[in-house]
Amino acid sequence: MLEPLVPYAAGKSLEALAEELGGIDLVRLSANENPLGPSPRVVEAVRREAARVHLYPDGGATALREALAQRLGVDAGQVVVGNGADELIGLVALAAFEPGDEVLVPHPSFEPYTTGVALAGATAVPSPLAGYETDLDDMRRRLTPRTKAVILCSPHNPAATIVRRGPLGAFLAALGADPPLVILDEAYADFCDDPEYPDGVALLRRHPRLVVLRTFSKIAGLAGLRVGYAVASAETIDRLNRVRAPYNVNRLAQVAARAALEDTEHWERTRKLVIEERAWLSAELTRRGFAHPPSQANFVLVRVPDAEAARDRLFRAGILVRDGAGVGFPGHLRISVGLRETNERLLALL
Ligand SMILES: Cc1ncc(COP(=O)(O)O)c(C=O)c1O
Repeated sequence: MLEPLVPYAAGKSLEALAEELGGIDLVRLSANENPLGPSPRVVEAVRREAARVHLYPDGGATALREALAQRLGVDAGQVVVGNGADELIGLVALAAFEPGDEVLVPHPSFEPYTTGVALAGATAVPSPLAGYETDLDDMRRRLTPRTKAVILCSPHNPAATIVRRGPLGAFLAALGADPPLVILDEAYADFCDDPEYPDGVALLRRHPRLVVLRTFSKIAGLAGLRVGYAVASAETIDRLNRVRAPYNVNRLAQVAARAALEDTEHWERTRKLVIEERAWLSAELTRRGFAHPPSQANFVLVRVPDAEAARDRLFRAGILVRDGAGVGFPGHLRISVGLRETNERLLALL
């Protein structure tokens, strides 16, 4: 079962790469991180909690789940917290998929989906994107009695496009009375400003087979601490808890996530910065003749003439971007939205 799998290519650490370049300041625009860093209130909360790291964390992440539930308007029993959304993708697979099951996955898309499916012994059925868009009609055609789940990623990584409210509603309604699980990965939800972007959590009331995934890595800048969460029916959450390790989310991560939720100002500042800089960067790329789908995420997927050479040129100048070839889009770069000064440097180098 492990033979077709390859270890996730996270690449060298930021520190190792900076050293390779002779210790220069390296800006990473390849991992869709938060250009502002974490909230100062998060840093303070982590500092305070540091003296208590000899104590196991709350295995149920109770306070964090309650804060999330209140924010989202659901019961705390409808939330499970994970060591990043990454862990939750694996837990869903472990809890729900069996050999013989088929799982529809947009192709290309975030790689851990197919790894999770494969590890559970199930079969990933790729549904090709239509250009840069998730093709729900194609997905519908691929549904069979063996389809255990459908995975949707909106905004999509790496295409940065969304699944709109109308088509999503129609897709969910067409799944019928005994639908498969629908895993809706909303890791980048907070960066959307398209009024047609649906709120996955609100859809849960009518579609109890939905599992919505979100993360503190992007909007809250906690990627290094690893906190994500799933919102679903209490039944689904109960099943995820059965396969979850007892202390999967550490003490520092739990207090940091709570502090991040409380600092709505930092949350909003990040959202505003990304939306404004995304619009600016997108317009400047277009003006220079670089085509790209309209982004609703904190990154842009840009078509460039020689992506590998462009990536290398940027790297030598201290800016790391993702070569599209590694994420299913050869001839493209996936570029995270940075601070204005970084974005300007990037454009000059391109
Ligand atoms: C679409 C998507 N889902 C999930 C994740 C994982 O998020 P986390 O850092 O919470 O594991 C990412 C991270 O880049 C992502 O792009």
